[in-house]
Parts: sequence; structure tokens; C-alpha cells
Amino acid sequence: MDFAAQRHALVARLRQAQDVGERVAEAMLAVPRHLFVPGVEPEAAYRDEPIVTKLDDGGRPISSSSQPAIMATMLGQLGVEPGHRVLEIGAGTGYNAALLARLVGPAGRVVALDIDADTVEQAREHLAAAGVSGVEVVCRDGAEGYPELAPYDRLIATVGVWDLAPAWLAQLAPGGRLVVPLDLRGVQVSAAFERDTDRNTERDTDRDTDRGGERDGERWVSRSVAPCGFMRMRGPFAGTESVTVVRRDPMVMLVLPEPRETGDVLAALDTVPTEITIRRAEAAPAATVTMGLSLWLALHEPRWCAVAGDLGRGPGIAAGLVEPGGVALLAADGALVARGYGADGARLAAELAAHVRAWDEAGRPEAGALRVEAYPRDTKAPSDTKAPSDTKAPSDTKAPSGTEAPGEAPDGVVIVKRHTTLVLRFG
Ligand SMILES: C[S@@+](CC[C@H](N)C(=O)[O-])C[C@H]1O[C@@H](n2cnc3c(N)ncnc32)[C@H](O)[C@@H]1O
Repeated sequence: MDFAAQRHALVARLRQAQDVGERVAEAMLAVPRHLFVPGVEPEAAYRDEPIVTKLDDGGRPISSSSQPAIMATMLGQLGVEPGHRVLEIGAGTGYNAALLARLVGPAGRVVALDIDADTVEQAREHLAAAGVSGVEVVCRDGAEGYPELAPYDRLIATVGVWDLAPAWLAQLAPGGRLVVPLDLRGVQVSAAFERDTDRNTERDTDRDTDRGGERDGERWVSRSVAPCGFMRMRGPFAGTESVTVVRRDPMVMLVLPEPRETGDVLAALDTVPTEITIRRAEAAPAATVTMGLSLWLALHEPRWCAVAGDLGRGPGIAAGLVEPGGVALLAADGALVARGYGADGARLAAELAAHVRAWDEAGRPEAGALRVEAYPRDTKAPSDTKAPSDTKAPSDTKAPSGTEAPGEAPDGVVIVKRHTTLVLRFG
């Protein structure tokens, strides 16, 4: 089989659909992905699809080779140069580490961390089989980073992260960049962050920067944001997201940004829904509408949820609202419809429809239009930032231990994490 031809075809397809820079394309053409997924038919390795390589005891995927399209996007965001030292969180099969090795070249260095010893062992074997050198694969909780070889010019997580680990920020060299699939209340975006040096310089000269360990004025700003969906990081740094199996056959799962009381969702879903038609003919593809609205709801609505599975119209994922008295879900199958189930379903459907109209009025913003500012804990967020009563104010406060609710900043939204406070704006 001509694997080189298959790689060419894959890269050509990716380039038709998205921007893939020359150097990333060259790396994807050079690295034989099939050697990193040895149990899988070689042709499958050259489809633009994720390949799950490991499940947990409950049958949930816990390791994979990610979809080539998002890998190309994130490598583009990362902007690796020859000679760079790069840290990857989530070694998995080792394929992305091999691409990174190609990008840094012989003068650079790549360290890839994975929490599972067997995965690390396999990644090492795959890299050896592909003849890749210059990569160190280490078994470690990625939240700790790898101080032994710091500082890094670039850091990439290929596993969903809920917060920016202090170790990552500390281990990046001045001018360094990190790219992570960051959780925004249950919706992930791949965000490329750099330290805002202008702000540091200005404030460093202004005032004392060492006040009892505070990193006064430190701010990280996103340089690019893209939609993505990765399996979540495991271990002590795992986030708050809650996934509940509502029904097993056919499978329906309720996804919430954090656990909360929702009532009997299955019983609600078994009621006849109240339907509100928001638009008779929805031009945008269902996936685009669902992704855009999920992000909008996650940032604006504490009661937001996603329901994944088969609700009688085939498998899919729907964004919506859930309360103990019912659930409302959006469907974008030709028409754009809000369906409300359960005792409070009609009201919830109306409220969901109102959110869709607000999203429309805002110009249907998507992940790519998002700007994220991250203030490491004890760093001052803008003083005029206002948080709602159930959210700690982002300045001068300790974050609640792992819970968050969206707050408001002037024309923006605040999310308080354990180690950072995020301020988000569409612009
Ligand atoms: C989507 S896979 C990574 C794909 C990989 N980059 C590749 O090219 O095959 C995510 C990986 O993150 C690892 N992981 C999960 N939690 C982790 C943690 N706390 N620290 C390090 N790795 C973790 C999983 O074991 C899994 O192998």
C-alpha cells in the first residue's frame, strides 16, 4: 500500500477545508500515522478521524490519536520554530509528538507527558518504530509540567483542560506560547495564549510587583481561538464537568459544566414537547448552529446543558437548558426549533428561543471570534469587572474550590477557575 500517497490525499483534503501552513503540512506528509495506531487498519489512519485507542472500565474513551484536522489547527496556532523546546501534555499514541519533533528539527527538543504508564510505553514503541528521535516520553500528571527540561518555548495540551496549571505558565520561556483545549463551562475551545508583556512592563515599572507572592499584573491573552472537542484530563487537575447517563438503550447522556440538581430528565424527555419554531428554514449546518449556540449559552446561561445521544431522531448532540422542572433543547434539522419537555418545558423553550434571538442579534458569534484573557490567581483582573453574587469577584479573592458560574465584565463574561480568572469577549 502506498502510504505516502494516502498522506498526500489526507493533507490535500485538509488544505481544501482549512488553513494548513507549509511546515505543518510537510510534517504531516513525513510522519507515518499508521505506525502510531498499530491495531488499526492502515487506511483508517489516513482518514480525517480520531482513532480511540483505549477505554476505561466503563467503556469511555481515555486515549486516542486526535482528528488530524484539529491537530493541524492546533499546530498552526502553536507556531513551532526549528530549535524550539516543546512540552506536550497528553502523549497518547506519540503521533503528535512525532509531528512536533519534525517541526522543531534536530536542534530542538520535545517532551511528551502522559498519565498512563502503558500509554507512555506504547508511545515510545511507536516513535521508535517510526524512527523518530528527539522526543522524551514521560509518565507524569501533565498538570505538573516537566520542570527538569524547562523553560519551554511552546506548550501544547492534546487533552481537554479545565484551567491553566500554574506549572505550565511558570515553565514557559519569556515570549513562550501555550495552546490548550480549554473548558469554558462545558464547551471547549483551543486557545493559544501568550503573556501580555506590555501590561507587565507598564505595571512593573509602576509599582511593586512582589506583594507576598502575588504575580501582580500578570495577564495571558489569547492570540487565536478555535472550536475543538477533546477527552478531558484525568487526575487531580480534572475539571468539574458532569456527564450523566440518562438512558442506556438507546444511550442518552446529560452534560453539565458542574454537577447540579436537574430532576428526572428521562421522565421529562418522555413527555410530549412544546415546540417553538425560531426559524422555518435554517441555512447554517446543524453542527455550526449547535457549536455556536452551545458556546453562547455556556457563557450567558447558568442553566445550560447539552444532551448527547438518540432522542428518537437519530444520534446527535443538542444544546439547551435544564431545571428540576424540565428541559428545553434546540434542534436545527431544517428548521430551527426549541422543544420544551416536562412541567416547565414550555417556559424553558421560550427562554431558550430568547437566547437564540440574542445570539442572532449579536451576529451569531463563534469560537473564532472569542478573545480570552487569563489572570493567574491573585493577579488583578480589571477593577471594573463585576461578578454575580454566586461568583467570587476575580480580584483579591480565592476561587471557590472548583465551582464556577459566569459573571459579567464590561462587555464581557467572567469565569472563575481554581488557578485563573478568565475574562471573555466576542470581538
Ligand atoms: C487525545 S489523547 C492525546 C493524543 C496524542 N497527542 C496523540 O497524538 O496520539 C489524550 C491523552 O491525554 C492523557 N491524559 C489524560 N489525563 C492526563 C493527565 N492528567 N496528564 C497527562 N496526560 C493525561 C490520556 O492518557 C491520553 O493518552
